[in-house]
Amino acid sequence: MCGIVGYTGHREAYPIIIKGLKRLEYRGYDSTGVALNNGSGLNVYKKKGKVAELEEAVIGKDLHAHIGIGHTRWATHGEPSDRNAHPHQSASGKLAMIHNGIIENYTQLKKELISKGYYFESDTDTEVLLNFIEEIRKNNQCDLEEAVRIALKRVTGAYVILLIDEDDPATIIAARKGSPLVIGIGKGEHFLGSDASPMLEYTKEVVYVNDYELAIVKPDELILKNLGNEKLTPYVQKLDLELAAIEKGGYEHFMLKEIVEQPQTIYDCLRGRLDPIEGTITMSGIQQYAEQIMNANRIVIVACGTSWHAGLVAEYIFEELCRINVEVEYASEFRYRNPVINKGDVILAISQSGETADTLVAIENAKSKGAILLGVVNVVGSSIARTSHAGAYTHAGPEIGVASTKAFTAQLAVLTMIALKIGYLKGSIPQERYMNLLNELQQVPEKVAWILKHSAPIKAMAEKYKDARDFLYLGRGYNFPVALEGALKLKEISYIHAEGYPAAEMKHGPIALVDDQLPVVFVATRDAYHEKVMSNMQEIKARKGKLIAVITEGDTATAELCDDYIEVPEADEIVAPMLSVVPLQLLAYYIGVAKELDVDKPRNLAKSVTVE
Ligand code: M6R
Repeated sequence: MCGIVGYTGHREAYPIIIKGLKRLEYRGYDSTGVALNNGSGLNVYKKKGKVAELEEAVIGKDLHAHIGIGHTRWATHGEPSDRNAHPHQSASGKLAMIHNGIIENYTQLKKELISKGYYFESDTDTEVLLNFIEEIRKNNQCDLEEAVRIALKRVTGAYVILLIDEDDPATIIAARKGSPLVIGIGKGEHFLGSDASPMLEYTKEVVYVNDYELAIVKPDELILKNLGNEKLTPYVQKLDLELAAIEKGGYEHFMLKEIVEQPQTIYDCLRGRLDPIEGTITMSGIQQYAEQIMNANRIVIVACGTSWHAGLVAEYIFEELCRINVEVEYASEFRYRNPVINKGDVILAISQSGETADTLVAIENAKSKGAILLGVVNVVGSSIARTSHAGAYTHAGPEIGVASTKAFTAQLAVLTMIALKIGYLKGSIPQERYMNLLNELQQVPEKVAWILKHSAPIKAMAEKYKDARDFLYLGRGYNFPVALEGALKLKEISYIHAEGYPAAEMKHGPIALVDDQLPVVFVATRDAYHEKVMSNMQEIKARKGKLIAVITEGDTATAELCDDYIEVPEADEIVAPMLSVVPLQLLAYYIGVAKELDVDKPRNLAKSVTVE
């Protein structure tokens, strides 16, 4: 969480920083700030609220500078306020710093500093770290770089920090542990960002900074060091990302754009991998570890949020097609549980951002215990991708809307391909079913396009149900995780309380909620459990709940039971979640829009959860 941007070079820094912050707003948006050094001192401007609010507040101020840092915040320590917004300034006023992450031992450091006479303007851990650095510089009579290095050796937690010094109007000092940092290399200029989006129109050459590295960034020079002060050679990579991919392209919201993109993103994910004519799936990362996966005692899937829901679908698919025991774990629980990991276990991390702190630490722990790590990740070059032994990218393109949509369907496409490949190699899928499933997978993009084309009634449904206080989402089998995902989407976007449940389990408690005011959304496409799901629907109807269902096209018997329904094309149950989730994404989207909420930036959330 939190977006950070930095610039040093020959251009005006402020416009570059502001544009970059707008692109990073998905990471946090409760306050914004910039610090600029125009050679005669630091100008720090910060404000509670989104970037646009800062822009208004600085009209008429001195914004001239060729070096600067900017921050968009997702609050951890201290409420969102002008006072707690970054950048923070050191007690002397000479240093300004922005930070993404959490300094866990900040209370202890703060006590030490208070005993030395320091006082603090904000409630943040960032201001503590900054003054700790300043104190070291003063005490040790060293330069800023050295002070940062010494300070970071004392710090526990996660951070990316960018610092500028009033007395050095060319240099940004940056360091990273556990949160992402990209440095873009231009001609006589450098750009820094939480991801590459702030620098896309200026350079395609980037360096991903690793944990425990420190960068000294000047217009003409980039020096990378470890915390032991040894110089490292920056590994320069070419970005394969176009500006258009991070723009709205005429849509009102990123979320809608990303939902609508799904036929293409699923196609991109399958392209070059799936060949239903030859009967092959080409995934080199998986091929490399195919033996180990086939012979794994179990596969442990670790993920959070929507990615965890994709993991649940994968559990059903892997067990069915590969006959391998699968466990799906919340990364945040798994990392602290001292889990039993045996030789031969495969850990599969799923993450859109590739930066989710809990998932990253969970797999690092498992790696240290000798597990094989596979990553199913969207963001190329991200920390989880780099930590994994192998894996497969989802190729969904940048997902900017905070609510994950196209990443989920791309994750399902990749996970299904992995299961098919392993099941085929292992001989646990009959040949005919294998070939049939390859064809089913191939047809998913056009079926999703069909759903989008027939989605107009969802908007009207959103109007009808937008004032409901609660929603229940129910499904069985492969559609149970889809129900969870539908409920998550709704609560994120509309702030309506929504619960997802296995349809049969509903009788063991949630049915008490049902009355004539409660919309109950069933994911009721035709599959092995369909008759049973229909019985569950009858149970809700008998208690006067409002029945909404995602059903298979032409299933009039189920349609007749419902107050409202949305059709999706017939499909094998293994690929069905990629279809049935789409109407639920749209329902959440349109309810959020009908309630006039900021669907791309829902309150309290951030796209990339880089703190635990
Ligand atoms: O980037 P990741 O897939 O690791 O993120 C995991 C969750 O934080 C994410 O899916 C979150 O739940 C989304 N807001 C869901 O829409």
